[in-house]
Formats: sequence, structure tokens, C-alpha cells
Amino acid sequence: MKMALKIWRYNPVAGERALKEYEVDAPEWATLLDLLDIIKDKVDGTLAYRKSCRMMICGSCGMRMDGAAVLACKTRMEGIAESGHVPVISAMGNMPIVKDLVTDMQPFWGKIRAMSPWLEPGYQDPGDKEFVVSQEEMDTIHKESLCIMCGCCVSECNSMEADPEFLGPAALAKGMRFVGDARDQATVERLQEYSNPHGIWDCTRCYFCQERCPKGVDPLDAIAKLGAEAMKEGIDSDLGAKHAKWFVTSAKTTGWLRETELVPKTQGIVRSLKEVKFAMGLAKHGKVPPPIPPHVAKDVDESRKLYDLVKQQGRDGAAGIVQGEHALGRLEFERGGQADRDPYGEDSFPRPYLPGKGESEEGRPT
Ligand code: SF4
Ligand code: SF4
Ligand code: FES
Repeated sequence: MKMALKIWRYNPVAGERALKEYEVDAPEWATLLDLLDIIKDKVDGTLAYRKSCRMMICGSCGMRMDGAAVLACKTRMEGIAESGHVPVISAMGNMPIVKDLVTDMQPFWGKIRAMSPWLEPGYQDPGDKEFVVSQEEMDTIHKESLCIMCGCCVSECNSMEADPEFLGPAALAKGMRFVGDARDQATVERLQEYSNPHGIWDCTRCYFCQERCPKGVDPLDAIAKLGAEAMKEGIDSDLGAKHAKWFVTSAKTTGWLRETELVPKTQGIVRSLKEVKFAMGLAKHGKVPPPIPPHVAKDVDESRKLYDLVKQQGRDGAAGIVQGEHALGRLEFERGGQADRDPYGEDSFPRPYLPGKGESEEGRPT
């Protein structure tokens, strides 16, 4: 069938960008990557893009389609072609373009490296005994471990667009992969490092990374988990952490978010005095409710019970974060075409050996 694309080409020698349209014959099963291959083979051999595995595992083929990052080898084109829409393909955002659809990933890798992405087991000699990690412990970092380093999340990150030094969703998800690892002994040091300016607390919670990640890593969940773990360890000097703490106190005591007190509680009295002019402007427009008497919600008991329940359940730190669970829910290549199967169901994914379960006499999993 006929399939068409518009591609933003970039010639680094001439420094010129141009939007070019291509139409080729392609099989109905073609992905965006197949289409690019056909164009490069038959129409214009100078087209530059990255690829390797063609099966969504190497992370090479990240690019933008109609302004949103996708993996080219995961994006089927049949429906788009049938609709008559001609998608615009361009290089990923937040990274310098080398040529056409190829970006310079150096800044990306620099940030991954800054997370110390290796285990710090706290010993030199591993000894003779195997260190057994339970399935439950590994489940904590299951989503983060799925990352293929494609950069699609970074491409769409709003904070990084405003602050190129922001560590970003991919690096922070990698950080959580090690903070949450039961074998790692550098948790506090990592959390201190990641809580510095341009780290955990600079994320604006826009959810774009979560939306665009093709592997369901849900980087924003990872960032939220890092923030919760940092606060559990008492690493809360950043304004973002103070902000979050006040949200909890305010919800617990009144059932509302008391924004009037947010600035003094977060920034301190001296700094908030500098904001008086801004506050007066808000007050003039009825945006600042009087702080006294405190506005208490009618059903504030519900809010307090919820707080107590979370405490009773010991859900401090990452365990208290309600996750998107996109990773398993988004497995689109399920067996038997059951799109709505239970992601945790019996045959959802091979269950690794769980200590104490199904153990044979020889001590091996059955
Ligand atoms: S949620 Fe945070 S990390 Fe994710 S894209 Fe938005 S600003 Fe970036
Ligand atoms: S978190 Fe997702 S989008 Fe970001 S690099 Fe990893 S796999 Fe790609
Ligand atoms: S070519 Fe490997 S992820 Fe697309």
C-alpha cells in the first residue's frame, strides 16, 4: 500500500533544515522504521537515522512523530496511512541534532553516568555464599529495570527544556533502579546526590515522560519514589521536599491544601517577606483566603484516617507511592491477542524462582 511521510531533514554542513515529503509502496505490516528503510534504499540514500535491533530493545530508533517521541520500530503505519494523514517525522527534542533524525546522545549519557549506574554492594570480597534477592524485593525496581535508554522521555521533558542541566527522567529512573535495589549499600549517598539542584525536586510532574516512554518505565513514578525515599531518610532541605512535607501536614490537619501558608512554611519567613507584593496582587483578585480561622474540611476525619492508615501500613518512602503501573499494563504484544489480560495474571510473564515456593528436593525451582 502507499504510505507517505514528511521528514525534517537537517544538513549539518550547510546548516539547513527542510521539510521533505516522501511516498513509497510498503507492506501493510510496515513500521515507521521499515518505511525509513525503504526511503533510504529506494529514494534517498542520504537520509540519516539510527537503528539496530528492529524489535524495541536496543533503544536506537527514538524520534518524533507529529511532535511526540516514539520508537520507530514500534510504530505501525497501516492505520495512519489508511486515515490519509501524512505524519511529520523529526529528530528527538532536548538534544542537539547531528544530521536529519540523528541526535547527539552525549549529554544523555553524561547524565546517566552522573547517577553512578552500578551496584555499590559495600564489600570487596563477595565470599562463598550466594546473596539471594527475593522476587518481592526485585519487584520494587521491575519497571525501572525495563529502560532501554532510548531517550524518548528526555525528548519530551519540560523541565529539561527550561533547564538543560536537569538530570531528567531517564537518568533519575536509572537512579531509582539502584536506590531500590536491595543489594545496594549507597542509598543515602545516592539520595543526597540526586537531591541536589537539577535533581529530583526540579521535575514539574508534567507526566510527559510517563506518557511517551515506549517501555512503560514510568519515569515520573521513579522520581516520586526517589523523593519519598529521600524524605524517609531525612534528606529534605530542598524547597521541593519542604513543599511536599507541607502538603502532607496541611492535608492531615485540615483536609485542605492551605496555600496561604505554603510559601512561609516552604521558604521561611524572611524569604517569603520578599513575596509580599506578589501575595497582595493575588489577594486583590480573591486568590488568597484568610489564614485565620484555618479552613477545615467538613470530612477532615477521612483525611486523618487515611494518613493514619498509611502510617500503620508502614508505607513510608517508595512503598507509599501509588504507581501508574503502565509498564505491565502496556505490554501490547500479549499472548493470544488478549489486550485486557491481567498484567499480574498467571501467564503474564515468566515468574522467576521465588524463594520457598515450588522448591524441589534438590533445592532448585520446579
Ligand atoms: S514529569 Fe518531570 S521528568 Fe517527566 S517529563 Fe515532566 S518534568 Fe520531565
Ligand atoms: S525511561 Fe523509557 S523513554 Fe526514557 S530512556 Fe528509558 S525506555 Fe526510553
Ligand atoms: S531499532 Fe532497536 S529499539 Fe528500535
